[in-house]
Amino acid sequence: MPGLTIGDTLPNLEVETTCGRFMLHDFVGQDWVIIFSHPGDFTPVCTTELAKVAAYTERFEDRGVKLLGLSCDDIQSHNNWIKDIESYSGGCKVKFPIIADPKREIIKELNMVDPDGKDATGNQVPSRALHVVAGDKKIKLSILYPATIGRNVDEILRAVDALQKTANHKVATPVNWMPGEPVVIHPSLSNDQAKEMFPHGYSTAELASGNDYLRFTNV
Ligand code: BEZ
Repeated sequence: MPGLTIGDTLPNLEVETTCGRFMLHDFVGQDWVIIFSHPGDFTPVCTTELAKVAAYTERFEDRGVKLLGLSCDDIQSHNNWIKDIESYSGGCKVKFPIIADPKREIIKELNMVDPDGKDATGNQVPSRALHVVAGDKKIKLSILYPATIGRNVDEILRAVDALQKTANHKVATPVNWMPGEPVVIHPSLSNDQAKEMFPHGYSTAELASGNDYLRFTNV
């Protein structure tokens, strides 16, 4: 079963977090939200990831993005762990909520389970999953890393920039795109539509096929 993925509506679960209890849809409101899971508190990779997210919090806020962590331990453990995270991050505060999921129910609903992993008692274990959700409560991007591989927070920020760009313009972002670089015109647009939509113009790459589908513009 593929589980929750791009295009699906985020389940409106009630969650207990380090910042109180709330419904996921109330937390999202009309904003962009990143929900990201961790295998457990007081584990080395998770501590480095959360410290980096804490350090980048303002960059996410600048983009109108709210953060929501999840780790499969209880609130008391989270609150103790946050002290480690903040000491490792050089004092950057964890200002975002972290969901408690000691019974590992939420990770199943949110498709954040490691399909390959079981703990010593045979229970499924959480992966490093991440969903980007928009104000319509739908999943716009998902990633799934195993517990042994820390995520790249710069890449998550870049993906948010790309999502917001493509949400606002009929474009797509090419390989290794970075903010400020040219984007490609959506292939569903004819050249006449592209001229109308991008009056400042666009350039077409010359390809062996002679086809004109690779069109760059700036928005
Ligand atoms: C970690 O967060 O460091 C970790 C968790 C589970 C397996 C391997 C690493």
